[in-house]
Amino acid sequence: MTAVSLDLALQRCIESNCGAHYGLNEQLYVCSRCGGLLEIQNELHALADANALRNVWQTRLASLDGKDCSGVWRYRELLPFSEDAPIVSLAEGNTPLYEAPRAARYCGVSDLRLKHQGCNPTGSFKDTGMTTAVTQARILGARTVVCASTGNTAASLAAYAARAQLKCAILVPRGQVSQAKLAQSLDYGAAVLEVDGIFDDAMRVIRELAEDESIYLVNSINPFRIEGQKTVAAELAQQCAWQVPDHVVMPGGNLGNSTAFGKGFKELFDLGVISRQPRLHVVQAEGAAPFARLFVDRESEPSSTLAPIRHPQTLATAIKIGAPVSWQKALRAVTETGGRVLSVTEQEIADAKAIIGRDGIGCEPASATSVAGIKRLVKDGVINPSDSVVAVLTGHLLKDADYVTKYHQDKLYTHDRASNRSKEERHIAGTFSNPPTRVKATRDAILQYLESHESHHVEDRSVD
Ligand code: F0G
Repeated sequence: MTAVSLDLALQRCIESNCGAHYGLNEQLYVCSRCGGLLEIQNELHALADANALRNVWQTRLASLDGKDCSGVWRYRELLPFSEDAPIVSLAEGNTPLYEAPRAARYCGVSDLRLKHQGCNPTGSFKDTGMTTAVTQARILGARTVVCASTGNTAASLAAYAARAQLKCAILVPRGQVSQAKLAQSLDYGAAVLEVDGIFDDAMRVIRELAEDESIYLVNSINPFRIEGQKTVAAELAQQCAWQVPDHVVMPGGNLGNSTAFGKGFKELFDLGVISRQPRLHVVQAEGAAPFARLFVDRESEPSSTLAPIRHPQTLATAIKIGAPVSWQKALRAVTETGGRVLSVTEQEIADAKAIIGRDGIGCEPASATSVAGIKRLVKDGVINPSDSVVAVLTGHLLKDADYVTKYHQDKLYTHDRASNRSKEERHIAGTFSNPPTRVKATRDAILQYLESHESHHVEDRSVD
């Protein structure tokens, strides 16, 4: 089995009328000729046949070798690195694919599984891309790695930079990142820089900063991030015995993850490892949905481009983004697979999140857009009740515990003060709330409580 060697892969501008190519070790994030986004072009025909690939990936599941134990590097034939690359890994990937019967009933489908990328080492899908991006930073001899982030990219980069002994600075929008995510970045030793403004402001500044060659930018505009993240498609396909689901549904923020899923499935399809590609659907929060708006606009005007939103609003802070960098790549993935882009309300996100919890799984608010989106797509007839569906959960429940406890105590409010909506109008109902109860510290009091609440069990409270 041969890996793709460095001279067989390139960085390529995605603009069809440009087509510029660059070597893998040229440090740039956009095309220096036209400013277009770059992607890695792997010469897949150099690989062994599909059967041999499936076999070698299967064999590695039983291996104790560090590279094989990573759910990213296990699929290294798909990656633009040589066999002796100085890999920085935390045994990322390897995330479970759960059955979710309650969430399935809630959505109105019979076959719903949840791909829980929140089970990565730092609790989000970012780790699968950070292992490759920080490995590339090492190859390039970078001294400082940086990113702008709504929290998860930051936590992930901070961890991988610490493993690689690289200096790390993260830019986050001040006051808009969950405490848990901040805590991770602090603990991993990153310089945490809180900027006034939103994520998009931090992104703009960091791109200017990265013009300095000693600084390496690892946001998902960096195509090496996408390479690592795309391996989730291979892991998911393998977990499905290479029979991919009809639909894969995921949240959309900066649109790196949807880009990566699209690239991953396409490459597997081109290789013959899978016989068809799932339809990829992207779900955004209603107040931060520039991509969903673009999708609608293009139905009447096919040449529309993304119009950024100046003041995105959502309690799902991970995806509070108004100017997603990778919209062109993500749009290609969605349209080529016959997918949709849609938005869901804050109430739908909160309720879907609680339902996911009832399956004993749990995720952060942004992740729940996927399940909320599936419910909508079923209602709209895009997903048939008998179709097989995978929802991607991108972050762990404990990433935003504050949101969760507020929901369950019926104290969750959106904070879009600018719109002058009353507190009542901003309230998110605790439809499936499960508040804590104060009891006396006696055996009798607790037994009495349990008896009087026998019918309290969630099954009786119209979850379905
Ligand atoms: N879900 C979670 C939990 C996220 O943290 C993000 C993005 C997304 C979904 C959206 O993914 O950007 O690839 O479309 N978080 C970034 C961050 C922006 O900085 O952590 P995307």
